[in-house]
Amino acid sequence: MTAVPELRNHGIILNAHNDSEITAHVAGEDEETARRFGWWPACSTEETVRAAYANWARNWQEDGRVRAFAARIPGSGALVGGCELRIGPDGTGEVSYWTHAGKRGRGHARNALALLVRYAASIGTTRLEAHVALDNHASRRVAEAAGFTQASIFTDDDGTEMIRYTRDASGGGAASIT
Ligand SMILES: CC(C)(COP(=O)(O)OP(=O)(O)OC[C@H]1O[C@@H](n2cnc3c(N)ncnc32)[C@H](O)[C@@H]1OP(=O)(O)O)[C@@H](O)C(=O)NCCC(=O)NCCS
Repeated sequence: MTAVPELRNHGIILNAHNDSEITAHVAGEDEETARRFGWWPACSTEETVRAAYANWARNWQEDGRVRAFAARIPGSGALVGGCELRIGPDGTGEVSYWTHAGKRGRGHARNALALLVRYAASIGTTRLEAHVALDNHASRRVAEAAGFTQASIFTDDDGTEMIRYTRDASGGGAASIT
């Protein structure tokens, strides 16, 4: 069983999700998030978020392949987004990240991804990937700021042109893990 670690840098705290924030999580999701994660025109609901939180908690408890973190502002602890590492069978990992509507453009995703990279290295992940739609310029900026570089272009199942970004997991930058 792996306890959810708490990771911090100057701008963000990553730690466990809390069921008391399900409403805030739903409210933070907009069409952009739903489209980018491929479930639009459906949207998250309290039920789907509760199920996601339960799945993420189970993965932590069972040392599973998905390691999801809530992203919070230092000080207030307010939930502003989240990120996830999906551990592959061969020591690689795929990262994803999101920021709540109204909380974007403040460096939260960039700060969260820097911590996630550091976490991935700490558990022995050697290589990371991020799959980003060609037209998702904000996400591309976030990936590139975290040291990811473009490796290839591919078309995903729904026909979206995607960039496969990669980077070594080592050297993720300053962060404390408690
Ligand atoms: C992508 C996302 C996570 C970015 O979150 P964020 O907290 O705004 O990210 P940051 O503030 O750390 O950085 C955003 C960067 O994109 C830039 N940016 C924002 N909109 C942009 C646009 N339309 N074109 C180009 N750059 C853009 C910002 O200027 C910033 O770059 P900078 O740090 O060099 O100034 C957020 O938009 C989101 O949640 N989108 C929906 C879900 C999603 O797409 N997730 C990624 C899936 S791969």
